[in-house]
Amino acid sequence: MNDKELQRVKQRYNIVGNHSGLNRALDVALQVAPTDLSVLIIGESGVGKEIIPRVIHDNSPRRREKYFAINCGSIPEGTIDSELFGHEKGSFTGAVGESEGYFGIANKGTIFLDEVGELPMATQARLLRVLETGEYIRVGGQEIRKTDVRIVAATNVNMRKAISEGKFREDLFYRLNTIPIQMPPLRDRGDDILLLFRLFALQMADKYRLPKITLAEDAKQIMLHYKWPGNVRQLKNITEQMSVLSEQREITAEMLTHFIPRDMETTQLAVVQGAGGSHTYESERDILYKILYELRGNVSDLRRDLNNVRKQLEESRQLNGAAGFQPIPSKSSNTLPAAPIKRQVDLVEDAEAEEISEPETLNLNDVGKQMVEKALERNGGNRKKAAQELGISDRTLYRRIKLYGLDNA
Ligand SMILES: Nc1ncnc2c1ncn2[C@@H]1O[C@H](COP(=O)(O)OP(=O)(O)OP(=O)(O)O)[C@@H](O)[C@H]1O
Ligand SMILES: [Mg+2]
Repeated sequence: MNDKELQRVKQRYNIVGNHSGLNRALDVALQVAPTDLSVLIIGESGVGKEIIPRVIHDNSPRRREKYFAINCGSIPEGTIDSELFGHEKGSFTGAVGESEGYFGIANKGTIFLDEVGELPMATQARLLRVLETGEYIRVGGQEIRKTDVRIVAATNVNMRKAISEGKFREDLFYRLNTIPIQMPPLRDRGDDILLLFRLFALQMADKYRLPKITLAEDAKQIMLHYKWPGNVRQLKNITEQMSVLSEQREITAEMLTHFIPRDMETTQLAVVQGAGGSHTYESERDILYKILYELRGNVSDLRRDLNNVRKQLEESRQLNGAAGFQPIPSKSSNTLPAAPIKRQVDLVEDAEAEEISEPETLNLNDVGKQMVEKALERNGGNRKKAAQELGISDRTLYRRIKLYGLDNA
C-alpha cells in the first residue's frame, strides 16, 4: 500500500505514529477489508486494537450495513448466548418476549468480538458453527437460522496458553485467526511515544482550556525508556493527569516520577532493556544492580522525609518550650494525642542513630558505582547515552560520577 493511502487512514481515524508494526497492522487491515476473511487482532491491553475493526468495516463492501462492537468479557455467562444468538419467548425465566440477538440484527454487517478469549465454552461451540456454516439456533429454539456476518475478533490474552489450559477451542482459534494482525506494544514504538504525547497534550489543552504541556529533554528520555504496561491508554491517562495537575507546563523528569510509579519505572525499565532494548544487559546481576541502584534513591527520599519530620518536631519543641513533647500543629487539627507524637520522635531518633551506622546507604554505594561504571563502559564513555540507559538525567549522572570519584579515574 502506498504512503498516501496510509496517511489518509491515519488522518481519518486520528491514528498517530509511524512505527513499522503499526503501519503493517493498518496495511493488512486495508488489504483484507474487501474480503470476508475472519481477522484476529492480537496485542496487549491499551495498544489500540479497537481502531482496526472499524477500519476494516468502513473499507469493506459492508460499510453501509450494521457494525457492532461486543465486549465478550463484560457480558455475564448466563446471558451471552441469548445476547449473541437471540432467544425464543419463555426460553428462560424473564424471557418474556423473543429476541433476535446480534447475529440476527447484524446480518450483512460486521461484528467485532472484543476480548474473545473470555467466551464461555458453550458459546464458543455456537460461534464456531456460525463461522463455518452461517447457521445458528436461538436459545430455547429449534429452527436453524442463517446469517451473513463478518467477524473481527480481538484478544489481549495468550490464546495458545488458553488452548493448552482447555479454556479455548483450538478449532475456533484457527477459524478466527485466518488473518492475524499484531498490534505492537507502545514501548517498542520509539519516537511514536513522543508523537502520541503531543497528540494527547493538544487534546487535553483543548478539553480543559489550559496551555499545552510539553516535555523537557530528560522527561523525554524517561518516556522513551519506560515499559508502558498500559500502553497507549496509560500514556493518554498520564498526559491527562499532568495536563490538569501540573502548574508548570514544561514537564521535567522529576515531575514525571509523580505520575509514572517509581517502582514500576525502575523494575520494568530494567527488564525491558534486558529483554531487547537497544542495550542488552550481560546478566541478571546487571538488572538486579539497576534495581538496587534505584532503591537507593528511594532510601534517600525516605531519609529526606524523616529529616522534614525532624525539623517540624524541633520547631514545635521550640515553640512549646523544651519541656516534654507537645503536639505539633497540623493542617487538619490543632491538637494531636501525645502518644503518636512520642512514637514519631522515637522513629526520628532511631533514624538518627541509624544514620551514624549507615554511611554506605545500605552498602549500595558500591553497587551504584558499579552500575555507573558499567553503563559508561558499555557506552564508550558517552555520558548522555549512559544516563539514558540508567534512566536518569544527565545532571544526576554527572553528580553520581563526582560522588563516586569516577571523574578522576
Ligand atoms: N495510534 C494511536 N493514535 C491515537 N490514539 C490511539 C492510538 N492507539 C490507541 N489510541 C487510543 O488509546 C486508547 C486505547 O486504545 P484501545 O481502546 O483501542 O485499546 P485496546 O487495545 O482495545 O485495549 P484493551 O485490550 O484493554 O481493550 C484509546 O483511547 C485509543 O483511541
Ligand atoms: Mg479494547
